[in-house]
Amino acid sequence: MYKEQLQQHLQKILGLDVTVEIPPDNTLGDYSLPCFAFAKQRKQSPAQIATAFLGLLSDNKPPYISTIETKGPYLNFTLNKTMVAQQLIPRILQAGKTYGHSLIGKGKTVVIEYASPNTNKPLHLGHLRNIALGSSLSTIYASQGYSVVRANIVNDRGIHICKAMLAYALEGHNATPEQKGRKPDHFVGDYYVKFGQLEKEDPSLIQQAQDMLQKWEQGDKEIRKLWKLLRNWCQEGFEETYEQLETGFDRIDYESDIWKEGKDIVIKGLDKGVFIKDETGAVIAPLEDLEIEGKKGVLPNKVLLRSDGTTLYMTQDMYLAVKREADLHFDELIYVVGSEQILHFKELFAILQLLGYDWVHGCTHLAHGMVYLPEGKMKSREGIVVDADDMILQMTDLAREEIVSRDNTMREEQVHERAHSVGLAALKFMLLKIDAHKDTTFDPQQSISFEGDTGPYLQYTYARAASILRNLEDKHLNATFEQLEDLEEELVMQLLRFSQYINEALTHKKPHLIIHYLLDLCQLFNEFYHRHHVLNEADEEKRANRIALVQATKQVIGNGLQLVGIRPIERM
Ligand code: ARG
Repeated sequence: MYKEQLQQHLQKILGLDVTVEIPPDNTLGDYSLPCFAFAKQRKQSPAQIATAFLGLLSDNKPPYISTIETKGPYLNFTLNKTMVAQQLIPRILQAGKTYGHSLIGKGKTVVIEYASPNTNKPLHLGHLRNIALGSSLSTIYASQGYSVVRANIVNDRGIHICKAMLAYALEGHNATPEQKGRKPDHFVGDYYVKFGQLEKEDPSLIQQAQDMLQKWEQGDKEIRKLWKLLRNWCQEGFEETYEQLETGFDRIDYESDIWKEGKDIVIKGLDKGVFIKDETGAVIAPLEDLEIEGKKGVLPNKVLLRSDGTTLYMTQDMYLAVKREADLHFDELIYVVGSEQILHFKELFAILQLLGYDWVHGCTHLAHGMVYLPEGKMKSREGIVVDADDMILQMTDLAREEIVSRDNTMREEQVHERAHSVGLAALKFMLLKIDAHKDTTFDPQQSISFEGDTGPYLQYTYARAASILRNLEDKHLNATFEQLEDLEEELVMQLLRFSQYINEALTHKKPHLIIHYLLDLCQLFNEFYHRHHVLNEADEEKRANRIALVQATKQVIGNGLQLVGIRPIERM
């Protein structure tokens, strides 16, 4: 906030259009004004200009600035930390849970699609990263006043679904997940795996699955009944996992409802001359001819309608985008989907652009990389998939061990609750810590540590602040912030940066920036706490300042954790 104020102030005093920067290292002050841009016009060296500006500004120093200095071609400004603290800390404490929130997105709708599973097997580790990203981004957008629609497209149709159905028809003997004591999506997944085994013995099964798909498409009653049974089991299981992850959806679309749609859009494009028919009668989007950033041939041509009139994955996505726009009039539509589909979304957006849908400029693909385990790759087709529910269970077990080793006097309920919070914190932190675009390795054992770059470390720091404040008796303290020590000043400055990080995380769709912010804040707080007395500080004034800093830091850590889907807990 001071940066904008300073920029306006400089513009007024200097009568120039200036850009205030944040110097790379704070020994150069908190803000700086590089003077290179004015050299040509003024026929002076940037250093001379800096000196001239300093002359103009020394009599017009805004109150929140303590010093202005030149360093070569730069003018460096230092904030008056006392004043910053006097304004910022009460603001944080007053706003409480809403500190960091804003209304910049007011009146705007953003649709965030994530999870989007297939209903033939349970969710896996990759989905966990996807969900962590999608739900954190949703929370970040909502905190800035956007109206957020968390969307999910469930791919519940196709040959892979029929494989599970066929295996169940052959070997399931009408059993239910309940009878078998199996989580329903895992129950379905078991039959999908079983199909693979059966097929090895009898290769004709794939044809049977194909026939089944055809019957499904024709609406065969028996087949549809079987399909619905398994589809609902899967969905029921997914819901349970979403709940564990403390996420959910405002809108769920099913492929089975829309798989035939999209033809109209394709035909319209054909009529407009945007698409072409090839010699086989298939409809093609001529993307090869499209110029993208001055170059042709960036994207390959894309089939949208087969010669037999059937639709494809692309056709459905075209329809779904148009439908979401018609229903929701979104300003932004963000697809959180793995980076193996980068080409698909480039093509989708190009096609929508060809069709003249201008809202496509609000569409983005937030592509995320793979998650590996220390043992190696997370394979998908070979079957060594890391199951999402197993992973959640493993994390809560690891957390439980850690918690019980620290305090074995707690009631079971309490242990359970805390293990869940800590286990999920460990998991989500690791899945969000790395820039989404990159692949990442997840090490469960390391992630649970209460020290180092982990989710539990952030929670631990929050709990530490909470415990200091629990022991506080006098509630009416008068913090003046007149005399601040270095670490206290740094802490104030880090608290001040919170909004800036939220802003960047939102603009660039990078929740990991908030994780990094929190790590820095916690690091600083722990150093501060290590170095200074708080409750038993003898000097009344220092004590009041420090307590206020602990209160504000606790609030900001808590608010930051919420944004990345981690539960702040009062005791650990
Ligand atoms: N279910 C798909 C998969 O697992 C992902 C769907 C992504 N969303 C979309 N609108 N195409 O590969």
